[in-house]
Amino acid sequence: MGVYVWGTGCGASELIEQGLNLERISAFVDSYPSGETFLDKPVLLPEQLRLGDCELLIVTTRHTDAVAKRCTQLGIPSEKLLFLKNNYELSDRNTACTIAQERLGEELLQKLLPKQRIVPTPASLADSQLPERDLSNDYVRLATLELLCRRLEAVPGAAAELGVYRGFFARCINQLLPDRKLYLFDSFEGFGAEVNASDAFQAAHANTTIEKVLAIMPHRAMVTVKPGFFPASLDGLEETFCLVSLDVDFAQSTLEGLRYFWPRLQRGGYLMLHDWGSPSLPGVAQALKTYEAEIGVSIPAIPLCDVGGTLVLCK
Ligand SMILES: C[S@@+](CC[C@H](N)C(=O)[O-])C[C@H]1O[C@@H](n2cnc3c(N)ncnc32)[C@H](O)[C@@H]1O
Repeated sequence: MGVYVWGTGCGASELIEQGLNLERISAFVDSYPSGETFLDKPVLLPEQLRLGDCELLIVTTRHTDAVAKRCTQLGIPSEKLLFLKNNYELSDRNTACTIAQERLGEELLQKLLPKQRIVPTPASLADSQLPERDLSNDYVRLATLELLCRRLEAVPGAAAELGVYRGFFARCINQLLPDRKLYLFDSFEGFGAEVNASDAFQAAHANTTIEKVLAIMPHRAMVTVKPGFFPASLDGLEETFCLVSLDVDFAQSTLEGLRYFWPRLQRGGYLMLHDWGSPSLPGVAQALKTYEAEIGVSIPAIPLCDVGGTLVLCK
């Protein structure tokens, strides 16, 4: 009887970083596996889960509804299910999970339990043609993006995201700004060695490809992918921007992003600095302070109460 973990992305890496020893995990489960193993553990399709073997299934993706439905179909009882990302629901799915405390201990369990409870993806961003896993569901972040995009009509320039990962947020930008060029910058191999990301964090972020990102873009002709490590990946690009999403998690890349994008952001444009308020990624806020000191200006900005603690910089 073992502990199984649903998801092979950031949620899984967070779980390990927060203290669940990899040795305690029997296998990962993923409906859309990128490979046969993740962190040297087998990755099973949901239907390969043997109920008799599974004592506790920890769900680390944000697609709580879809996974819960699948688990019901597979006959996994709710006392074996612990949802770590039910932060977009008003109800608590974990009240039935009697096994988690016994298996994980109270201290680890309290660390893991979701802290936020907010509401689902705005209807205008829900896209029935996409698999559910491709709908990011940080309501406040997405709803704010939608409102900001509505204010950009008179602002010229392209859109860009530095730090694309699997393209969840980029897809929303592309959907909301269908007539704008959208530049997507990512190494597509995770973080540079200099940032010392943990193995789990690195493995989770390397788990993407350009093809997969492009496949979920609704207006693909408007998208230009700039692969490689930023700022080298700029390759001399000269452009101005109406909207930038800066989401690279660590200080140096955030600073490089600010140095490039802020001067090129048009008046009336916005730069969404993801993780500025995230206690686990302090480099992002540090980079902004460094940049403001460099230019001698305190940039007008609005903090969001979204999951990642985004700061919206306003030009
Ligand atoms: C948190 S993920 C981005 C998530 C994405 N914005 C979303 O909301 O779906 C961070 C990404 O930044 C990328 N990254 C970090 N530093 C980078 C750099 N210097 N150059 C290119 N990509 C970088 C990583 O490869 C990773 O995919």
